[in-house]
Amino acid sequence: MKWFLSFVAFTGIQVILAAPPLVKRATVNDVATLGYATLNGGTTGGSGGTSTTVTTLAALTAAVAGDAKKVVIISGTITGNTAVEVGSNTSLLGKSGSSLVGVGIRVLNVNNVIVRNLKISKVLAEAGDALAVQASHQVWIDHVDLSSDRDHDKDFYDGLLDLTHGVTGITVTNSKIYTHWKASLIGHSDNNGAEDTPITVTLASNYWTNLSSRTPSFRFGHGHIFNNVFDSNDDGINTRDGAQLLVENNVWTGTNKPLYSTDGGFAVATGNDFGGAANTAPVGTFTSAPYSYTKLAASAVRAAVVSTAGQTLSF
Ligand SMILES: *[C@@H]1O[C@H](CO)[C@@H](O)[C@H](O)[C@H]1NC(C)=O
Ligand SMILES: *[C@@H]1O[C@H](CO)[C@@H](O)[C@H](O)[C@H]1NC(C)=O
Repeated sequence: MKWFLSFVAFTGIQVILAAPPLVKRATVNDVATLGYATLNGGTTGGSGGTSTTVTTLAALTAAVAGDAKKVVIISGTITGNTAVEVGSNTSLLGKSGSSLVGVGIRVLNVNNVIVRNLKISKVLAEAGDALAVQASHQVWIDHVDLSSDRDHDKDFYDGLLDLTHGVTGITVTNSKIYTHWKASLIGHSDNNGAEDTPITVTLASNYWTNLSSRTPSFRFGHGHIFNNVFDSNDDGINTRDGAQLLVENNVWTGTNKPLYSTDGGFAVATGNDFGGAANTAPVGTFTSAPYSYTKLAASAVRAAVVSTAGQTLSF
């Protein structure tokens, strides 16, 4: 009996220790510290600018417009069927528990934007992608939570995270990308090489799960993909059209093509755990990223990434 009681107490303590949500304190003035977003003068968004909290679609749309330096914080749930365009020099942040439903975010023809801790779901194809970055430079996307469902036709929704039309200086960190057909298109189309060859994207410490394709589909540019976890997606990373990827210390389960090329892309792959499947992508020339970074061993990635990915910051 004594033994039994102390066993209960012990397991009870373990439950309590596991209970607190994994919330990481962040500040509204944080700037990008990792990857391509740190190059070319860095990505500071609206750090140090005016701060506005919004709770309606109209207030959000007005607050993020224009190139003045500004921090915009979303509170509560905002629903709609549209995309909101973000101006340059903006940090767009979500409070804990905030959510955009049917409302996509578009970073189009601008520079120096930070998007953090946003939860975006179920953006209909007619409104566009959940989060689209097009023809823009120096963008840091961090701790976003992007999803829809797979209960409809695959074109009912568009992409979750599409980075196209010559985007450079893009870093995506600690995000959760899940339950969707076509997850992430990087590089617009096979005939868009002139615009998309300069693309530079870092994808680090993201959790990709329950997706069909495009995890991501990567055309033409340079991509550094490290310390991500990919679980139960139909496809893996598709390197295409001369893309040069550096793929390091990622973990996959549940796909038989974790890293492959359909049309002439390349990858240098080291330290990955392909979950028993094989990398079939031709070996490329991108062997060293042009910035310093630390990476976890593949064996440590799952524990570090899965529970902290998505909307887990508090401002
Ligand atoms: C905002 O961004 C533009 C273009 O990226 C830049 O030229 C301008 O100086 C910035 N403005 C402020 C207020 O930081
Ligand atoms: C995966 O997606 C399907 C289809 O939308 C959904 O029913 C299921 O709950 C999802 N699975 C997980 C683990 O989220």
